[in-house]
Amino acid sequence: MRGKDIFSVKQSNSIQPILINGQDRPESVLRIKGKATLSGYVPISGAKNSTLAIMAATLLCSGTSRVRNVPAIVDVQKMIDILRAVGVKITSDHNALDIDAKDLSESHVPYELVNQMRASFFVIGPLLARLGVARVPLPGGCAIGTRPVDLHVKGLQALGADVIIDQGIVQAYARQSRLQGAKIYLDYPSVGATETLMMAATLAVGETVIENCAQEPEVIDLANFCISMGAKIYGAGTKTIIIEGVDQLHSCEFGIIPDRIEAATFMVAAAITRSTISISPVIPDHLTAAIAKLEEIGAKVILESDRCIRVEGQPRYHHTHIETLPYPGFPTDMQAQFMALLTLSEGNSTVKETVFENRLQHVAELCRMGANIMLQGNIAVVTGVSSLCGAPVMATDLRASAALVLAGLAAEGETQMQGLHHLDRGYDQLEAKLRNLGATLYRQPLGSE
Ligand code: EPU
Repeated sequence: MRGKDIFSVKQSNSIQPILINGQDRPESVLRIKGKATLSGYVPISGAKNSTLAIMAATLLCSGTSRVRNVPAIVDVQKMIDILRAVGVKITSDHNALDIDAKDLSESHVPYELVNQMRASFFVIGPLLARLGVARVPLPGGCAIGTRPVDLHVKGLQALGADVIIDQGIVQAYARQSRLQGAKIYLDYPSVGATETLMMAATLAVGETVIENCAQEPEVIDLANFCISMGAKIYGAGTKTIIIEGVDQLHSCEFGIIPDRIEAATFMVAAAITRSTISISPVIPDHLTAAIAKLEEIGAKVILESDRCIRVEGQPRYHHTHIETLPYPGFPTDMQAQFMALLTLSEGNSTVKETVFENRLQHVAELCRMGANIMLQGNIAVVTGVSSLCGAPVMATDLRASAALVLAGLAAEGETQMQGLHHLDRGYDQLEAKLRNLGATLYRQPLGSE
């Protein structure tokens, strides 16, 4: 039953339950009716990327962690499978997980679990800190880039681990009984490396200083979770994080922050369909770049409260220029969705992807829907068109799939999207939430259309 019994999805009259284990789902196509007008309120789930890191961090504590506001997505189920593979007990209750890592015993994570989700590599830091040994297969590349783990490895070596990579498995052994605090400089503010090293350093002897850290809200959320377990972490959210190692951590209860990428995806949904949507809960500070770009092209963004944003779509938008950057720069995870919007904005916009080397595969799919986009290396030049037309399209990665749904909602006619396993990885009931706003979209087994 692994992967099916746990973490049943909240249900309501209008929100259809989904099976969390994506592999069990027959291949489907998502049919999206175009020219949608949306209205109303959409609830935002907990942040995927906080949740995955925090689930890894629960390995640091020999008690039970209760994590609330966990999104019902396939990546969470995959992380549950990984934690169980190393001896952890997990139960769920609505959107909360109780994760009991008392019997953590296994330092080796099976390849077939790691190769399905890159974030699974993040368990290397906690395993090493707690057991003194970790053997985690290299996650390999994925649809958006090669995604090496050299910064994780260099940092763990600085913390006193011997690391060898043999037959595709990263094997890390603490040279002494515990890791040792160190000064670490990251060549690039990698989210994952910052998280791996911060987690590993919580149980090290002495002080660790990590320079040029990632400043993403999910890094802060992870730090706050570790602090709730008794870790001493200072400066998360700045470029320098200081960790004073402690002997052990204790049980805690923690609520995940709202998903800023899901929220921003719905903000673009309002803009591209020229509709008005209220989106909550959000932390508006986490959405600064997305709000700035929406306002720059002419959409109206209204702060209804410190937890709620309303976006009022407009009939016409101007062009803009977007460059993806580490936080607080424009998020790479919103690049595809904004590109969909810019295909229907006047003039020539540019979108430059600097974080991942292969995250522009949606360009070809948007062009199949009538978009006018020229690719020059990592820069897409988007010339606005008056309308898109529905077409059969293929989702190539998680955020590309969201972009194609948005484009499909705005297009003339019907769009049929394949590659839905990407969507299921990271959006908690996207289709049901859109239906509640008035959109018409539904899945059909492939070949039965
Ligand atoms: N990089 C290296 N060496 C390393 C680590 C990273 O060269 O050791 C490079 C990567 O190849 C990439 C860049 O640094 O070119 C940024 O990678 P980073 O480590 O910051 O990303 P990540 O931790 O692998 C997380 C999110 C991504 C998000 C990025 C950037 C999780 C589980 N994933 O990935 O989320 O795009 O940060 O913000 O936290 C998504 O949700 O769709 C998604 C891909």
